[in-house]
Amino acid sequence: MIREYAPQDLSAIVDLIGRSVRELASRDYTSAQISAWWPERPDVGAWERRLATGTTFVAEREGRMVGVLRMETSEHIDLLFVHPTFARQGVARALHDRAMRWAIDAGASRLTAHVSITARPFFDRMGFRVVAPQTVERHGVQLRNFRMTLDLMARSGAESDSSA
Ligand SMILES: CC(C)(COP(=O)(O)OP(=O)(O)OC[C@H]1O[C@@H](n2cnc3c(N)ncnc32)[C@H](O)[C@@H]1OP(=O)(O)O)[C@@H](O)C(=O)NCCC(=O)NCCS
Repeated sequence: MIREYAPQDLSAIVDLIGRSVRELASRDYTSAQISAWWPERPDVGAWERRLATGTTFVAEREGRMVGVLRMETSEHIDLLFVHPTFARQGVARALHDRAMRWAIDAGASRLTAHVSITARPFFDRMGFRVVAPQTVERHGVQLRNFRMTLDLMARSGAESDSSA
């Protein structure tokens, strides 16, 4: 089930993101990079403030939090994490589809994201293209990721062509 974030989801989301970074993204980043990305004691207050703005969707299975996606604006996906136990079961795809419908309803003409090495195959599969690889710095450590974009106008055109 996909629904919008509620404040009582906060601690489950922070736990989920921590596990996703440490268990999934650690395949593609060094331990120094993972520690810089996800400190041992995350700032829960900062997460609370972040999640109070934008629009966040959460995925649940049998009452358990399994994924999260936040739209910072109607165009920009700034968070997408899936619980490692539920990886490769279509959770991110369901979150993406819901967010894309929401973005189209909000008038967005494209989606953008800064995508980790780990998430790149997922965004490739969803039809995003790389605008540019980039290096970002977190707590003095450099991490590689990709600026990616999906043209929603071309996509809706392709959908109406195929349904014609
Ligand atoms: C990236 C991430 C969100 C994908 O979530 P997921 O729920 O496992 O993805 P889905 O099951 O919806 O995948 C849909 C399709 O994307 C592609 N895909 C997803 N993960 C993939 C992987 N690791 N390798 C290759 N293709 C992948 C596949 O085509 C997949 O379809 P299939 O399983 O039928 O082959 C998840 O791996 C994650 O949380 N990673 C760590 C955190 C991270 O880096 N987040 C992104 C920050 S930008």
